Amino acid sequence: MMDNKDLEAEIHPLKNEERKSQENVGKQLKTEDNLKSRTPQSRLSRCRTVAFFLSLFVCLFVVFVVSFLIPCPERPLSERMWRIDYNASVTYDFLAMEDVNKDRIQDVLFLYKNTYNSNNYTRSCADEGFSTPCAFVAAVSGANGSVLWERPVAQDVALVECAMPHSDSETSACILVGRLGSFIAVNSFTGETLWSHSNSFGENASILSPLLQVPDIDGDGASDLLILTREGKEVRGAIYSGSTGQQIGHRGSLGVDGDSGALLHVTRIGAHYILLPCASSLCSCSVKVLYEKMTGKDGPFKKDSFWENIFNTSTYGSGAVRYLMNVPGKAGEDVLLVSSDTCTLLDGQDLTPKWTLGATQILRKPFLGHYKPDTLAVVIENGTSTDRQILLLDLSTGAVLWNQPLPSLPGSPSSTSLPTADHRSAFFFWGLHELVSTNEMEPRDVQHSLYMFHPTLPGILLELANVSANIVAFDVILFEPSRHAAYVLLTGPASSDVPGLVSVTKHKVRDLVLDSRVVHLGEGSSDSDQAIRDRFSRLRYRSEV
Ligand SMILES: *[C@@H]1O[C@H](CO)[C@@H](O)[C@H](O)[C@H]1NC(C)=O
Ligand SMILES: *[C@@H]1O[C@H](CO)[C@@H](O)[C@H](O)[C@H]1NC(C)=O
Ligand SMILES: *[C@@H]1O[C@H](CO)[C@@H](O)[C@H](O)[C@H]1NC(C)=O
Ligand SMILES: *[C@@H]1O[C@H](CO)[C@@H](O)[C@H](O)[C@H]1NC(C)=O
Ligand SMILES: *[C@@H]1O[C@H](CO)[C@@H](O)[C@H](O)[C@H]1NC(C)=O
Ligand SMILES: *[C@@H]1O[C@H](CO)[C@@H](O)[C@H](O)[C@H]1NC(C)=O
Ligand SMILES: *[C@@H]1O[C@H](CO)[C@@H](O)[C@H](O)[C@H]1NC(C)=O
Repeated sequence: MMDNKDLEAEIHPLKNEERKSQENVGKQLKTEDNLKSRTPQSRLSRCRTVAFFLSLFVCLFVVFVVSFLIPCPERPLSERMWRIDYNASVTYDFLAMEDVNKDRIQDVLFLYKNTYNSNNYTRSCADEGFSTPCAFVAAVSGANGSVLWERPVAQDVALVECAMPHSDSETSACILVGRLGSFIAVNSFTGETLWSHSNSFGENASILSPLLQVPDIDGDGASDLLILTREGKEVRGAIYSGSTGQQIGHRGSLGVDGDSGALLHVTRIGAHYILLPCASSLCSCSVKVLYEKMTGKDGPFKKDSFWENIFNTSTYGSGAVRYLMNVPGKAGEDVLLVSSDTCTLLDGQDLTPKWTLGATQILRKPFLGHYKPDTLAVVIENGTSTDRQILLLDLSTGAVLWNQPLPSLPGSPSSTSLPTADHRSAFFFWGLHELVSTNEMEPRDVQHSLYMFHPTLPGILLELANVSANIVAFDVILFEPSRHAAYVLLTGPASSDVPGLVSVTKHKVRDLVLDSRVVHLGEGSSDSDQAIRDRFSRLRYRSEV
């Protein structure tokens, strides 16, 4: 009977259960039977229970391990503000950012020139074959300002470019061209020499900025370097291997005169042209032609006769070209051209003006940012001194989006922008404190004030800081993704002949916002100053795309 019951229990478990309760109600007449009959079934359910709790436990354990036991990568604590000083030094208008010590916080690279370096364990000028004083590169930790490495690189620096990709993809290079013949690449992460040569520029050649990068010619995986020099009225070029610094071919003439500020322009079919400001406004030179002159060989470069034809038959505004910039266009790159009295956007392919803004006095290279979400705007400074205005123009149409008089002095630091999470940008401008009139001041008492602007509050400028030292270079960067935007300020003597105190300072933007002064432009906003500061301090930033 017991066996039968068991069988039945397996076939009709519920029915069996029912019956069991009936039996129970029947005052446990067959207690023993009952117990025996329940045992295998309850073992089954116990198994299920155990399996259930076991899997629950495993799940919880995994969650626990993932969230607590496996540590998040440790974030080194970043100081909100730091400063590093060099006595009896001069510095250069150069700042570069790179994560040198791989702590996921951007570090700062800059140049200074003095007779000794701050710590005694690194090389001196004489160790590298330079006389003192010589120029050093220093890399300082973005987190706390401690020196990561520093070393002499040149007697005096003419051109410098950092964060350059190297053929070994693990490293990146800083390339420095010295005024007196040195030409060196150092590993940005360690400061070690990657290669070093003496350059072959003519005795009286002046080196034109910037250092141009041309596509890899020698097939070593690194883009190669094109350096332009001017000798008398002639501009010459020389190409060097990016991974060894060896010259490729010899120097060749571009066949034009010209000035600093050259640009490498790539036409839609992939032909490379050097565009540079020259006496007859804008000059161009085919990289293919130049390369053939240098090496006597066919290179990897193309010729675009269609583009050349248009270039040769076009004229570019009136007056001297001051600045040239490649800007993203609808198809390929367009060219923003600033001449002495106009600002023009040229289509990169057919060179027709897309828009022109006349009656401008632009004495500083424009820069880009986003005023409307995901739409590029170009920022220009029109005029100088008390007449200076900041204009934000829609890059595609040239329409003025925002216009603000902001007096400054000649030689005031350059402005910059930083993308914010809402796909716009925060803009940072230097100006004079509005209450001070320029003629009342002794030049040495000049205070530059840093203003912050965000397009969501077009009627507000935040005065973040007053700086009285001479500012040589300035930038606002994102030290860590999505958080921790800070400014970096390089101050030092105005003249390279008079050494003085050189300082690099980092300041977190959010801290400056909390202590800032709110400047209402035009009609007062209804928000309180504190509410405005709060809105600015809640801004989130994103990395450049
Ligand atoms: C730099 O100069 C200041 C004042 O002249 C002095 O207090 C400081 O100790 C000097 N620092 C170094 C590293 O020599
Ligand atoms: C460097 O060494 C000299 C003597 O060797 C010493 O007087 C000086 O204080 C040292 N400087 C630093 C910054 O350690
Ligand atoms: C600065 O931070 C680095 C790591 O980023 C650390 O090794 C160093 O000890 C710190 N220096 C100071 C002075 O806190
Ligand atoms: C360099 O310039 C100086 C004076 O300007 C001149 O005497 C000298 O011959 C020039 N050197 C070369 C190689 O042109
Ligand atoms: C454009 O002018 C340059 C220099 O004057 C010349 O070398 C080139 O062949 C010209 N191109 C065309 C397509 O006419
Ligand atoms: C640029 O500034 C000058 C005066 O400095 C002014 O006459 C001119 O209208 C300004 N241009 C624009 C486009 O605002
Ligand atoms: C800058 O200086 C002016 C007067 O010199 C002062 O009114 C203003 O509050 C200062 N701004 C900041 C941010 O400290």
